[in-house]
Amino acid sequence: MIIKSPPKIKSSEITPEKNYNNRRTFLKLSAFTLASAGLKPLLALTDDSGRGKYASLKYKKSRYGKGEQLNSWSDITGYNNFYEFGTGKSDPARNARSFKTAPWKVSIEGHCEKPGAYHVEDLIKDNELEERIYRLRCVEAWSMVVPWLGIPLRTLIEKARPTSKARFVEFTTLYDPRRMPGQRDNILDWPYVEGLRMDEAMHPLTLMAVGVYGKVLPGQNGAPLRLVVPWKYGFKSIKSVVRIRFVEKRPLNSWQQLAPREYGFYANVNPQVDHPRWSQKRERRIGTFFKIETRMFNGYADEVGGMYSGMDLKKWY
Ligand code: MTE
Repeated sequence: MIIKSPPKIKSSEITPEKNYNNRRTFLKLSAFTLASAGLKPLLALTDDSGRGKYASLKYKKSRYGKGEQLNSWSDITGYNNFYEFGTGKSDPARNARSFKTAPWKVSIEGHCEKPGAYHVEDLIKDNELEERIYRLRCVEAWSMVVPWLGIPLRTLIEKARPTSKARFVEFTTLYDPRRMPGQRDNILDWPYVEGLRMDEAMHPLTLMAVGVYGKVLPGQNGAPLRLVVPWKYGFKSIKSVVRIRFVEKRPLNSWQQLAPREYGFYANVNPQVDHPRWSQKRERRIGTFFKIETRMFNGYADEVGGMYSGMDLKKWY
């Protein structure tokens, strides 16, 4: 048996969450101050794949998630659903390692006055980044708490100036079976598609994430740009988005298309409406043993409940 000496890994790469709170105090400093202190620009810390060349450094912290116990970097980046890179929870971390996400363009199109195609780097430079600590509740009854870094979707929508015909927003993942091996199998009708009603897309909680734990989003979490809708089951949070389209009709999202009895369009976290094959009353926070109660709208009912008043949430699951 050959015993190799352990590779030299920077401590920041092993347990980024450990030093994370200290690091966050640096965020208000200018790029120059950071450079002179010998630190790399924040978003370039994990630049091992051509990503992370973003010039923008400053981001503001939001009030969301204060006091929440964050999941670790290894939970968040090691336990994933991203069927384009395999159906096992650890497949995406392995198979998306060399996923090249630069250059990457996102096209904003459909019923709007200012459609356009944007390099992700430009979206990041031209818009204010915010850190939001959100709970993510997967339809499979597990959950995590994640410190995302992103741009409120509303900012991008307002710039595109949607017309009155824009009643829904449709999101599409990259389709490239050479780079996304899971797309060579017919698990879903690729590319992955998701949709939101216009008011949901415009809601201040809805985020387009470009980073996590103050770093560039890793491939397995949906690099370089993924949606985060914290009051909905995780499958609404579509990854590696290449197209955002304003449409008149409700888009048919991938999971609803595959199994309409099991997955609806709204997918609001709702402990009172079970999945046909399992209960949604409780969830297991990854990294903990005991299950906890699932809260209505994943605990964001005060912020988002009003959008669904009067709706039969059993029918519109
Ligand atoms: N987006 C794409 N393109 N493909 C997927 O398979 N899985 C969804 C969602 N977005 C998925 C996707 C599901 S089921 C979940 S729970 C979340 O991503 C998981 O996000 P995470 O891996 O960052 O925790």
